[in-house]
Amino acid sequence: MSDSPARSTLWVLHGPNLDRLGRREPEVYGTATLADVNAACAAVAAEHGFDLVARQSAHEGDLIAWVHEAGDTGAAGLTINPAGYTHTSVALRDAIASVDLPVVEVHLSNVHAREPFRHISLTGAVCVGTIAGLGVEGYRAALRFLATRAG
Ligand code: DQA
Repeated sequence: MSDSPARSTLWVLHGPNLDRLGRREPEVYGTATLADVNAACAAVAAEHGFDLVARQSAHEGDLIAWVHEAGDTGAAGLTINPAGYTHTSVALRDAIASVDLPVVEVHLSNVHAREPFRHISLTGAVCVGTIAGLGVEGYRAALRFLATRAG
């Protein structure tokens, strides 16, 4: 348990199309739904004494505002799967860089083994690290890392 109430929240943000997990290209993304992913994240957060804030949007502006909110409210850390915005969004990259908050980028699939346009991440360079290809376990690992780092 963190002894600072201001640092007791971990966040997970999901980008576009991740609300369709479970039925979206299951051979690529697996069969877990977004609710399953959030439940796994909440369990890891709780094990470490943190509350979890979990949000999903297809809108770049929502994701940017939530990155700011996580930073401004003193979250202990943020796990983000920017989905397609990983490869396109300078604005989301700049939002992550603008907050004093450890951020881990997660991808369910191994983006490096996929199409060349997925090999480029605009957001990864301003994150503490990136996990790709481990499915739901990647989110668990990211949250464990952030919880331990904040502990
Ligand atoms: C993804 C990989 C991205 O390339 C893709 O646009 C997604 C999901 C993943 O979790 O593997 O939507 O971020």
